[in-house]
Order: sequence, then C-alpha cells, then structure tokens
Amino acid sequence: MATRGREGTAKTGFGVDVGGSGIKGAPVDLLDGSLADERHRIETPPGARPDEVVEVIVAVLRSFGWTGPFGCTFPGIVRHGVIGSAANVDDSWIGVDLATRLSQATGQPAVVVNDADAAGLAESHWGAARHREGVVLVTTLGTGIGTALLVDGHLVPNTELGHLELDGKAAERRAASAVRERKGLSWEEWAARLQRYYEHLEFLFSPDLFVVGGGVSKKAEKFLPLLDLRTEIVPAGLLNEAGIVGAAALAADTLSAPHRRRTTEVPA
Ligand code: BGC
Repeated sequence: MATRGREGTAKTGFGVDVGGSGIKGAPVDLLDGSLADERHRIETPPGARPDEVVEVIVAVLRSFGWTGPFGCTFPGIVRHGVIGSAANVDDSWIGVDLATRLSQATGQPAVVVNDADAAGLAESHWGAARHREGVVLVTTLGTGIGTALLVDGHLVPNTELGHLELDGKAAERRAASAVRERKGLSWEEWAARLQRYYEHLEFLFSPDLFVVGGGVSKKAEKFLPLLDLRTEIVPAGLLNEAGIVGAAALAADTLSAPHRRRTTEVPA
C-alpha cells in the first residue's frame, strides 16, 4: 500500500494520469523514471466532469499524503494549464484552468500537460526514445490516439495528430485501440488501418522513429510486425506508466525553472 506523508524531494516527484476509465497516480523516482511506489488507481467518475475528476485527482494525491509539486495529465489540448479541447471527455472541460483548480484544491503547485505529451517526454528521457536524436513521433493508442512530437528531445506540444483525417473521419475514430475492441477487428484488420495512419504520418513528418504507447503496446508483437513502414517503429519502453512519469518529470522541471513556469502559484 502507498506510503503516507510523502514529501517531494529533488529526486522524487509525483504524477497523476487522467484517463477515460481510470485516474492513476504515484510518486516517481526522477533519477531513473521508475515508479517509487505502487500506483493508486480510482475509476474515472461517470461522465468525467470537471468537479468530480478534480475530487478524484485530489483523493489520489491524498492517498499518498503527497506534499510538493506534482504533474497531472489531461486527454486534450492543454495550454498554460487551461484545457482547450475535450474529444473523449465532457465538453464542460473546455476553458477550465485545471492547473489553478488543482493548486487551490491541494495547496501544492501543479502542472497540467496533455497525456500523450507527458508520455512522449517520459519515453524520450527514460524509454524507447532515449538517446534518440532527430524527429521522434510518440503515439498512444487507447480510447483515442494521442501524439507527441519531439525534435532532438524537445517537445512540440499539443500536436493532436490523432485528429488527422483518415477515410473521412478523425484517425482516432478509425484506428484507436478502443475501435479495434468495439468493432471486434482482428489484429490484421486493425493493422491495415494503422498502416494507412502511420504511412500518412511518415509522409507528413519524415520521422526518424515512431514509438507506440498506450495499454495495447503490451501486445505490440501482435500488430507491429504487420506494419510495413520506412521508419523504425518500436513499442513504448514505459508501457502505460509513461503518463505518470512524464507529468511528474515535467512538474519537477517546470517548477524548478521559474522562467519556464506554466503553472499557478500556490494560493496564499
Ligand atoms: C485527444 C488528445 C489525447 C488523445 C489520447 C485525443 O482524443 O484529442 O488530446 O492526447 O485523445 O488521450
């Protein structure tokens, strides 16, 4: 069970990952990008509306007695802590200053980041894109498709390439992992959709590496070998923990570099 009364140190951070089915958090060892304790998961409240979700995030932090800066992911556009889109969550999220809400609710400094961007940062620091220069495109295949674009390890935030059009629909409506499950697609049928998606990304971005994350990356051997691309494509190194790890790392980094502050001050 979680250790209580944890306090953030230079070496330990805290990340929360907000997903469509669960909200998960854990302290993170910032030296090696591993979870410093077993993660705590609470079901995402039905409807995933702001007030209820904020309550659950706070409950996850409290279950560890965490004090100190923390990072939190969100499955939509996030600019300066404010939610800019809500493709797979309630529309009432648009315009919510989640960083301020979380800082006020916890009394701790909070950073909010797009879920795929958090995963991309974690993969670039400690996972499959470690020591990789050039253009890396991290994709997360889940309820939607999230993307993180990194150039020599620097993130270009909020790329939202899951919303590129594929056969007249947002690509994530054709090729997300949830679509495979919902439609009962075979691995081959799903891979045919992924093939077209990744080919399109390849044409647009000429990446040096694709990294494939999301829960289904645990079963990468079922579908990655079916893809035929010019670009190297590998499963995520941190599997489904990359969101927690990346959010924690970003919080530690942003909050120790005030010139890059993207969060709110702790209210007096
Ligand atoms: C959202 C992205 C998010 C992705 C994965 C998409 O629907 O627009 O912001 O990263 O889902 O959760």
